[in-house]
Amino acid sequence: MTIDDVKNIAVVGAGNMGHQIAILAAIHGYNVTCTDVVPEILAKAEAFADSYLPGRVAKEKLTQEQAEAARARLTFTDSLEEAVKEADYVIEAVLEVLDLKRKIFADLDRLSPDHAILATNSSAIVSSKIADVTSRPDKVVNLHFFNPALVMKLVEVVQGPHVSDETAQLSMQLCDRLDKVSVHVKKEVEGFLLNRIFAAINKEALWMLEMGVASFEDIDKAQVFGAGHPMGAFRLMDLTGIDLNYTMAIEKFKATGDEADLPAPSVVERYMKGDYGQKTGKGWYDYTED
Ligand SMILES: NC(=O)c1ccc[n+]([C@@H]2O[C@H](COP(=O)([O-])OP(=O)(O)OC[C@H]3O[C@@H](n4cnc5c(N)ncnc54)[C@H](O)[C@@H]3O)[C@@H](O)[C@H]2O)c1
Repeated sequence: MTIDDVKNIAVVGAGNMGHQIAILAAIHGYNVTCTDVVPEILAKAEAFADSYLPGRVAKEKLTQEQAEAARARLTFTDSLEEAVKEADYVIEAVLEVLDLKRKIFADLDRLSPDHAILATNSSAIVSSKIADVTSRPDKVVNLHFFNPALVMKLVEVVQGPHVSDETAQLSMQLCDRLDKVSVHVKKEVEGFLLNRIFAAINKEALWMLEMGVASFEDIDKAQVFGAGHPMGAFRLMDLTGIDLNYTMAIEKFKATGDEADLPAPSVVERYMKGDYGQKTGKGWYDYTED
């Protein structure tokens, strides 16, 4: 398969990341089916597409014709089978739970055409932990978008030892077609490339908070006004989801057995209260007033 043969993209999971990846691909000319198991999330994703695309017209980023064509290429369905049966490229964006991803990839392998590439948008789970449930490990790859996927340019293509050069190259070409900037991560390392850097910053930020060195607001301020970062570690955690931060820490602890990898007490406290960040209206900061 060459990049020109890729016409149909399926996105599995219509949450934070999935719905934006689906809209992005539709804008760039692909026929996209987006699926989720929660009807409310599918409806929310569809409603977002219905307001986002006209919004791009109002901002003169798309013509009316382009927006209508993108919307016409975008389908939402609760049937995984329906979503992937004609897919050339599948992007999985479900919860960051290894067992769930393994189950879904086994289903994807059964339900997708033999030529389809099966990519995971996972933030931390390397595709070699998933590929063995499929009959096509050479076509199972990490394609890691950043949040918000419609805005952030970077995509990491992580080529584990089982991934063919063809799959990695085609995935990078797909990023070009989606107007993204891809980087080729040639080894499966914890955190891939950028999140590995962020993890070091996060760990220090949480350590300073827990030790009473500074408030989270001041730690964020230091990053923004001293280092020129667009936002600090805590504001970023609110954007990406405290639930994701918690789950990733638990997964890391399961892998290493090192108690230092457990989520920080202040993260656990917010996770237990359901204060996940922007998506729930409250995390480190309160979003209910604006
Ligand atoms: N949030 C971020 O900042 C971010 C950034 C990059 C990558 N990621 C990765 O993207 C993936 C999704 O993260 P998210 O933040 O969008 O999570 P999310 O919780 O917002 O969305 C996950 C969606 O998966 C759906 N789902 C669960 N089981 C399913 C199934 N069997 N079939 C179809 N859908 C199912 C859920 O209903 C939910 O809507 C994770 O692997 C995460 O690590 C997240």
